[in-house]
Order: sequence, then C-alpha cells, then structure tokens
Amino acid sequence: MTAEPTERVRRDAARVLFGNWSGHSTVPSHSLYPHQWSWDSAFIAIGLRHLSPRRAQIELESLLGSQWTDGRIPHISFSPSVARDAYFPGPDFWQATTRGGVETSGIVQPPVHALAVLLTHAADPTESVRRNFLARTYPKLVAWHTYLRTRRDLGGRGLVAIVHPWESGMDNSPAWDDALARVEPAPLDSFTRRDTDHASDADRPTDLDYGRYVQLAATYRDHSYDDATTPFAFALEDPCFNALLIASEHALAEIARTLGLDPTPHLNTADDLTNSLGTLFADGVFRARDLKTTELVAADTIAGLIPLLVPQLPQATELLATARGSRFQLGNARMVPSYDLTGPAFEPGRYWRGPSWFNTAWLVHRALVTLDQTVAPRTEVQALATALRDDMLALAASTDFAEYVDPSTGEGRGARDFSWTAALTLDLVRDGLRSN
Ligand code: SER
Repeated sequence: MTAEPTERVRRDAARVLFGNWSGHSTVPSHSLYPHQWSWDSAFIAIGLRHLSPRRAQIELESLLGSQWTDGRIPHISFSPSVARDAYFPGPDFWQATTRGGVETSGIVQPPVHALAVLLTHAADPTESVRRNFLARTYPKLVAWHTYLRTRRDLGGRGLVAIVHPWESGMDNSPAWDDALARVEPAPLDSFTRRDTDHASDADRPTDLDYGRYVQLAATYRDHSYDDATTPFAFALEDPCFNALLIASEHALAEIARTLGLDPTPHLNTADDLTNSLGTLFADGVFRARDLKTTELVAADTIAGLIPLLVPQLPQATELLATARGSRFQLGNARMVPSYDLTGPAFEPGRYWRGPSWFNTAWLVHRALVTLDQTVAPRTEVQALATALRDDMLALAASTDFAEYVDPSTGEGRGARDFSWTAALTLDLVRDGLRSN
C-alpha cells in the first residue's frame, strides 16, 4: 500500500478502536459482542498500544481483574452497564461472579495474554515502569498458565485440553465436528440466540451447533466449573491453544528477565510444551487430539499452522510448505483460510469453516517475520510477510474492518467495525516488518 491509503486505514482503525472503547476495555463489536472477551482484549491491546499505551495497559489490567482464584481468565467479563439479555449466553446463564464482584463466563480462551502484555510494555517502557505494569501483571499471568498446565492437562501428556469449542476461539471449526456429534444438544426452544439478530444466519454457526454449545456449557456450570469432577463430553488438545501458550511462556521469560527474575523455569516449560506439541504433528500439519478416542482429528485447520509461531519449532520447514500448498494457499488466497480449501466441510462464508480471519493472519505474519533463517530463505519469507500484510490492510479498508472475509473473493462477513481487525491492521501499519 502506498502512503495515502495506509494513512487512511490508520485513521479509520483508530476511529473504530475509540468508538468501541467502553471506559476501561474495548468491546469486540457493539452489536454482536457487547462485553469484554478474553483473547479479543489481548489482540486489541496489541493495536491500542500504538494509540495509547496507557489504555492498552488498562485493557489488559481490566481483563486480569476478572481472573478467578484458581487462576483461570474467563472468556467473557460482563459489563454491568449492558442489558443482561443483550448477549446470549449472558451472566444469568453462566452464574459466575468473582470475589471482586465481576460477573463472568466460566470457560477460557487461548492464552495470548502474556505476549500482549510484553508487546504493550515494549510500546512505552517508561509509562509501563511508572505504572508498575509488568510487576503487577506478571504473577497473574503465571497463575493463569499454571491453571492451564495443571488443571487442564486432562490427557496427562503435557498439553492443555479445551473443554468447549468456544475455548478454542474457533467455535464451529470442522475439527470439532466428530467430537460435537457425540453431544446431545440442548432443546432449541430452551434458549434464544442473540447473535443472529446482528449477523447473517449464513455467516454464523448452525442452530444444531448452538444447542450443543449450550449443553456443554450448562454441564460445566452445573459442576461448579470444577475440572476434576465435570464429566467432559468434549475434550481436545488444540494445536493453536498450545502454541499460543508456548509463545506466551517465551514472553513470560522475557518479562521475568525485565523484572530481574530468573527466566529459566519459563524457558523449560516452553521446551517441554514444544516437545509435547510434536505429538500432534501429522501429514505436514498439526492436528487436534480428541481425548475420547485419543486419535488425531483428520481435519486441517488454521489452528494447525499457528505453531509456526513457536521459536525453534522442529517441524517449521514442513509446516511452512503446508501453509503454501494447496490446502491453505498462503500467498494466493486472501489472507489465510481458517480451514483446508480442499476439505469436505469447506464453506467460504461460515465463521470458522473457511473464511479468513485477521487475528490468525496476524499470527502467521508474526511467525513469518520472526522465523529462523534456517527454515527458508530470508528474502522469500519476507516477500510472503509483506504480501500478507498488504492483503490485510487492503481487506480491512475494503470491508470496513470486517470480522472475517471470504478467502477467495475477499468479501466481508460477520460484524463490521470489529475491534481486533482494526487493532491488528493498525499494528501492521505502525510496525511493518519489525518483530515487536
Ligand atoms: N464466540 C462465541 C460467540 O459467538 C462465544 O464467545 O458468541
């Protein structure tokens, strides 16, 4: 992109982020998601740090303010100023309130937070030190990772398991189809969806999927969100979730170093997780393991490419080749599709069953710019990164910051003025090919 359109996208992204700011955090979308979401907030902070490092710090601090005593960071922190039925499932469904009086959901989302904290610190270290940002957030991030690595290692293989498709952030990914099919859905007349009031039915998960999401969440709730006693009907080791945990452990090591603490425990944890992650590698890509069958799920999704972000990943060369091959067509498709373009379940417009998303494109872009020189020639990888960045900026501008886009036509889908789309394109405008 040349200077003038780039300046326009920067200005418009800032408008979206200021418009979605609610005083102490940012809603992903006023209509579709009117509260604070966990991994959204992390991605939002990564862009917001360029507009106001202080606001980006507050965004992350307010999310950490909803942390439970067991260390989990819930996937939604409900805003008391929003109507209780504006979003389903709302606070009355989840029935979870922290000691500090914050109403939350009870499930989690991918742990990209330590990375967001580190990048937010790096945007303005002076302001960060003045506000004691790292010293205050570090123990909370450690408690979060500890919760995941202990209470959520349900398979005993040193990997974290998700217990609800929403925990992956990729709700209706084809990777969950077989596991979800075993779940008896809640009756459709027992709840009222709100999402389809604000986005096209064709862009969202189906009613049948929704019934199963509701059932899984209700079972966890009815067991007081206790990981030891809930009879989980759905439990999988997701490569994206675990790869982000590894990237965040590396970020924790860096934060520890900055605070004058020993980074070694975090680096050791990252190494152990990286070794365990290797057990999910098959056919050139990482796949989820279903803990009910202990088999790897034969559906190739964007989640399987995200480990490219892991430093010194042994499978990086093969994984990059898969990203560029017929299944994902990195360099030819618009951004990076969320599911195998040749797969039987591919749908170009339906949420996580094909469309390209800006957060996963940002993660792939970051992976490319930080990739080890031995994996592929530097110039080649840089060309891919530059093309992906340009595509993201062009699509953000042409779709009014859509939530996701058709991977062939680039047509916008889902919500518009979507916060992480604005934040992450802003980050690319500001940072270009810098690695932090
Ligand atoms: N992503 C889910 C939704 O659409 C749950 O957070 O509401």
